[in-house]
Amino acid sequence: MKSKKNLVLIGMMGSGKSTIGKLLAKKLNFKFYDIDQLIEEQMNMKITEIFKLKGENFFRNLEEKVTLKIMNSNDSVIALGGGGFINDHIRKEAITKNETFWLDWNLGTLINRIRRNNKRPVALSLSNNELKNLVVKRSKYYAKAKNKINCEKRSKSEIIKKILNLYENN
Ligand code: S3P
Repeated sequence: MKSKKNLVLIGMMGSGKSTIGKLLAKKLNFKFYDIDQLIEEQMNMKITEIFKLKGENFFRNLEEKVTLKIMNSNDSVIALGGGGFINDHIRKEAITKNETFWLDWNLGTLINRIRRNNKRPVALSLSNNELKNLVVKRSKYYAKAKNKINCEKRSKSEIIKKILNLYENN
């Protein structure tokens, strides 16, 4: 059978990339890769520890390496880290060789979702105002994804249906 393009999920922390990605992969009978999880497995460390002990630059270099390698596979759903698509190299590869989906939410919803957990070093170091500014800044990059999914007021299954619809009619 002909191999199919990967689906790459993009968006801020807390946008549901991992949850939606897993469900999507199951529906499509594709493999699922969560970049943060792959990095944690490779380092045998949690993301928070990597940031604390090795620093953000180290994390970003590893993120680039792991993401570029995984995007060479086929028949996969890939959940990027929230900062992955800001990297020029990752963004270019994701757009040209894969099908990209931005999981977009309103600013207020996103801030609430991000604050629900304390495992995200980037968010922990920022005030709500700074976090809002980061969302606005990053959204300019996320908007370069081929498909934008407005997740607000959609259930998980509606989000998945929408993504599958766009993917299958491409
Ligand atoms: C980050 C998002 C995280 C993780 C790291 C940095 C970011 O991924 O890669 O903490 O810069 O937005 P999630 O989007 O899966 O939380």
